[in-house]
Amino acid sequence: MHAKTKTTLTPLALKDAPALIETVFPAQKVSFEAQKERKANLGQTLTGLGSYWKGRKPLILVRAIVLGCLLPPTDDAQADLALFEKLMAFDEEGLARRSLAANALSPAEIAANIDLDNPWDYFKATVRRLGVTGGDIRWMRFPLDVDAAGISIRWRRHITDDEKFVLYRRALATLPSYEAKASIAKRPEEVDQDWLYAPVWPQVNRHYAHLGLDAHSFPELVEQLGILRYGRRPRVGDTFCGGGSIPFEAARIGCDVYASDLNPVACMLTWGALNIIGSSPERRTEIEKGQERVAKAVDAEITKLGIEHDKQGNRAKSYLYCLETRCPETGWMIPLSPSWVISKGRNIIARLKPDHRNKRFEVEIVSGVSDKEVAAADQGTVQEGDMVYTLDGKTYRTPIKTLRGDYRNTDGSTGNRLRRWEKSDFKPRPEDIFQERLYAIHWITKATLNKSRQETWFAAPTDADWECERRVEKLVAENLSRWHDEGLVPDMAIEPGYNTDQPIRERGWTHWHHMFSPRDLLKLALLRKHISEPELVLELCGTLDFCSKLSRWIVRFSSGGGSDFTSNVFSNQALNTLYNWANRSFFDHDFVQNYKNAPVHINASVVCAPSSELTQAQDIFITDPPYADAVNYEEITEFFIAWLRKNPPKPFDDWVWDSRRALAIKGSDEDFRRGMVAAYKAMADHMPDNGMQCVMFTHQNTSVWSDLIGIFWAAGLQVVAAWYIATETTSELKKGGYVQGTVILMLKKRAAGERTGFKQRLLPAVRQEVVRQIESMLHLNDTVTVHHGEPVFNDSDLQMAGYAAALKVLTAYTHIGGEDVTSFALRPRARGEVTVVDEMVQQAAETASNLLVPEGLSADTWAKLTGIERFMLRMLDMETTGSSKLDNYQNFAKAFHVEDYARVMGDMRPNQARLKRVSEYASRDLTDSTEIGATNLGRLFITLQQLYKDTEPQVIVEQMRNEMPDFLEARSVLVDMLAFIEKKSHEPETRSAAEVLGARLKNLRFGE
Ligand SMILES: C[S@@+](CC[C@H](N)C(=O)[O-])C[C@H]1O[C@@H](n2cnc3c(N)ncnc32)[C@H](O)[C@@H]1O
Repeated sequence: MHAKTKTTLTPLALKDAPALIETVFPAQKVSFEAQKERKANLGQTLTGLGSYWKGRKPLILVRAIVLGCLLPPTDDAQADLALFEKLMAFDEEGLARRSLAANALSPAEIAANIDLDNPWDYFKATVRRLGVTGGDIRWMRFPLDVDAAGISIRWRRHITDDEKFVLYRRALATLPSYEAKASIAKRPEEVDQDWLYAPVWPQVNRHYAHLGLDAHSFPELVEQLGILRYGRRPRVGDTFCGGGSIPFEAARIGCDVYASDLNPVACMLTWGALNIIGSSPERRTEIEKGQERVAKAVDAEITKLGIEHDKQGNRAKSYLYCLETRCPETGWMIPLSPSWVISKGRNIIARLKPDHRNKRFEVEIVSGVSDKEVAAADQGTVQEGDMVYTLDGKTYRTPIKTLRGDYRNTDGSTGNRLRRWEKSDFKPRPEDIFQERLYAIHWITKATLNKSRQETWFAAPTDADWECERRVEKLVAENLSRWHDEGLVPDMAIEPGYNTDQPIRERGWTHWHHMFSPRDLLKLALLRKHISEPELVLELCGTLDFCSKLSRWIVRFSSGGGSDFTSNVFSNQALNTLYNWANRSFFDHDFVQNYKNAPVHINASVVCAPSSELTQAQDIFITDPPYADAVNYEEITEFFIAWLRKNPPKPFDDWVWDSRRALAIKGSDEDFRRGMVAAYKAMADHMPDNGMQCVMFTHQNTSVWSDLIGIFWAAGLQVVAAWYIATETTSELKKGGYVQGTVILMLKKRAAGERTGFKQRLLPAVRQEVVRQIESMLHLNDTVTVHHGEPVFNDSDLQMAGYAAALKVLTAYTHIGGEDVTSFALRPRARGEVTVVDEMVQQAAETASNLLVPEGLSADTWAKLTGIERFMLRMLDMETTGSSKLDNYQNFAKAFHVEDYARVMGDMRPNQARLKRVSEYASRDLTDSTEIGATNLGRLFITLQQLYKDTEPQVIVEQMRNEMPDFLEARSVLVDMLAFIEKKSHEPETRSAAEVLGARLKNLRFGE
C-alpha cells in the first residue's frame, strides 16, 4: 500500500512552514467523534485484539493530529479549516456520505424534511389507507407526512447511492447541529474510503495547487506533504505506544512508523494492530486458517480426554466455582459466595442444603424458582466482608478477616494465617483455610452444540463429573513440573506490588499459575503447546483474559435480554480475587476471531525498549505518556507475560519478556520527572529541527501544567499550540462526576543557543501573545459562524489557546531569572509553591477570561465582576446552547479561580451537569460567608427569591440601597446582570423577576 507519487514536488519546500495545527484544529468536532468512537466499545477497530488493554487513544483523534502536523496553513485560515474538515469527513458532504452509509434516514424521514417536487422519481409508494388512489399519490409532494397521507414509501430499485446522497444531504441539512448529524452517521473509518473521499481530492489538489500537490488517497497526500516538509515519506514515532492506536492510525494514512514501549504486551498489541488488523486480506485468511487449525487440534485433544463432555455427548459451557471454609463456631464447611443466584432471567439458584452427618452443605441447582427465592438467594454467604449463614434457624456471622487470621505486626505491617502456596501447588491443600469447590456446570445439549441458539441447562456436578475433575487434577499433578520447564504453564513468581499484593494477601497465591484452576491449566497447556506463530499469541492472550479464578460469573438483570455469562479478568484494571468465579470450557472460547480488517501501509518497526533508549530518528512524535496513570500496566500485564516469556515466537523473541517495573515511568514525583525528561530529550534529540511533537495528557490542574511544561521545556522543546479535547470517560474506578479532558500539546524544538528572560519583562509579552492568539481565533469564529451557523472554537479552546500562547513565550527561553530550565524541571517542589509556569498560566487565564465576555453582557460590566460571578454568567450562557458537560464547569471554575464550584451546581453528573437554579438556593447558600453569597450576583439571587414571594420591588430596592454601601456605583452592573439573567435563565419566574427588578433599578431616579 505504498503511495506512488509521480508529481514534481519541491522537496523541503515546506521545511520552515508552520503546521496547520498551530493555528486551527476542529477540536469540538474531534471531541464529538472521539467520544462516538469510544462509545462503539467492541466495535472499535483495535479493541478486538485485546479489550484488556484500556485507554487506547481514539483513532480519529490521531488522524486529525497527523494531518494537522503535515498540512500547511495558507493565508486563508477559513479555507484551510474547511479543507481540514473535509479531510476528516466532518463537512456537510462527508456527513451525508457517512449517514447514507449508515442508512440512517428512512424514506419517511426524508419525505418529512425536504422540499421535493418529483419525489416519485426516487420513491415508490404503497397505499396503506383505504381510499387513497394512485392519482392522489401522483400529486403528493415533499415535505410529506407519509403516515398522515395514508401511504408508505421506499426507494426505487434503480436509484444509485449518488442519487440517494443528494437527498440525504438536503435532509441532513435540516438537522440542528453537528452532533445531531454526526450521531446518526457511521464513523469515517467505517465507510469505504474511496467513495467517501472521492469529491475531496480535487478540492485538496486545487487548494494546494501552488505546492504541486496531486493526491488521490491519504497515502498519496501524506507522502507528498512529507516530501514537501521533510524530503521523504514522513516518519511518525510513538515511544509510549501501549495498545498501538497512534502508530496504527499514522500507518493507516500512509506514514512510516516507529513504535516502542517498555512493556512487551504493549508491543505485542501494537504489532497486532499493524500486522493483524492492518494485514492484507490474503494474510488475514492465513491468520484465520491458523486459528482454526489450533482450535481444532486442541478441541480434538480435549474431546479425546473426555473432560468437557458427559456420557450423552452434551458439552460443558462453563464451570462455576466457589471458595469453601470451615466455620470456627460450628465446625461446618461453608461455601462462600456473595450471591447464590445463577440466572435471574431463568430463575436459577444454587440452594444450600445442610448435610448434618458430614457438617457441610450440599449445593443443589434449582431452576424456575419463585422471584422471592431468587431475591433470598441473592443474599449470599459473604455479606459486607463477613461470612454469614443460617443453620437450624440460627444465623452465624464471622468476619472474613478473622477467618484469614489477619494481624498487625509491631512495625505496622500486616499479615494473615493463609498458607503461602508453593510452586508445585495448583489447588488448595486439605489443611488450607480456603478450599475451592465446583458447584455448578453449565451444559449445552448435544443437539444444539453448533446451533446459533443453544439449549443449555445448569446442574450440580454428578459422580461422573467429580471423576472427571479428579482426572484433570491427576493430569495436572503429573505434568505441571514439565509444563513449567517447557514454558507451557507459567512458573513465574508474583512480585509484590500495588495490584499484585492482593492475590498474595487474600489467597496466599505466590505464583501466577496459582490464579488458574486445574482445568484452566490443562486447557491452556494444551493450547500453548500449539502456539508458534506471533498472531496466535494474541489469541492466547485473549483466551487468558477469560480464564482464571479472577473471572466473574455475570448474572444479567431479569428484564435484560441475553444469557448470563463468564466475564473477562480485566473487566477492571486490577487483580481482584473472587469468592465465586466461572471458567469457560474450551468449547466456549472464541479462539477463532473475526477481527476487523483495515489494511495499512506498513513500513513499521515495533521495538521493546524504554523510551529514553530511542535510537531511530523520526519527523513527528505523537505520544500519550504514562502521566498519573491510574492503571499499573507494568504489574497487571505480568498476568500475560508469565505465560509468554519462555519461547516467544519471532519477532517477539527480540523483546524483553519482563515488565521491567523499575524502568516504568509512573507517579508524579521527581523520579517521574527525571524519567520523562530523559524520554522527551531522547525524542527531541532524534528529530530534525523542523520536527514536531504532540503530547496528549489528561487535563487536571495547573500543577499538571507546571510539571509537564517544565519537563518538555527541559527536554529542549517549545510549546507552539494546545487544544482541548473532551473525552468524557467516567471510569468505573473513579465514579462520581469524574470527567476527563485531554490536552493536545504541540511542541517544536527550541532554537539552539541560550536565551535568558526575566519574569517582569516576560509578563507583558505573554499578555500580548495571549491577546493576539485569542483575538485571531475570535475573528475566525465570527467568520465561520456567519457561514455555517456554528463557531469553530468554544471557550475551552480559547482558554487552552491562551495558555499555549503564554507558554510559547516562556518556553522560548533557556533561563528565567537566574534559573535554567532543567534545574527548574527537576527541582523538588515545595508544597503550595507557585512556579513561574503557574504564574504564566494564571496570567494567560486572566487575560483570556477578560476577553471572553459572554454574549449579551458589556465588556465594562464583565471587567467589574468577580471570578465566581464570571463563572456563573459564563456557564449560564453556555447552558443556553444546550451544553451540559461537567468538564466545562470544571475547567471554567479553574480558569475563574472559583474555590468550590460544587456549591453552585444543581447537578454534577458528567453529561447532565447544570448550575443551581435561582429558586434552588437555600438561604444558607447565600450568606456572606459563601463564595457566591458575598457577591453582587448572590445579592441579586436573594432579591429575586424575595420577588417570587411577592415582596414589593420598591421594598427590595430600598433594602439593597441600605445594605449595599456601593449601591449607586454597582447599579449599572446590577442592571446589566439582571438583563442577562432575564434573557438566559431557565426559570420563567426568575426571568420575569429579573425583568421587574431590572426595570425598577434602571428607572431609579436619584433620591427615590
Ligand atoms: C498511557 S499508555 C499509552 C497508551 C497508548 N497511547 C494507546 O493508545 O494505547 C502509556 C504507556 O507507557 C508505557 N511506559 C511506561 N514507562 C515507560 C518507559 N520508561 N518507556 C517506554 N514506555 C513506557 C506503558 O507501558 C504504557 O504502555
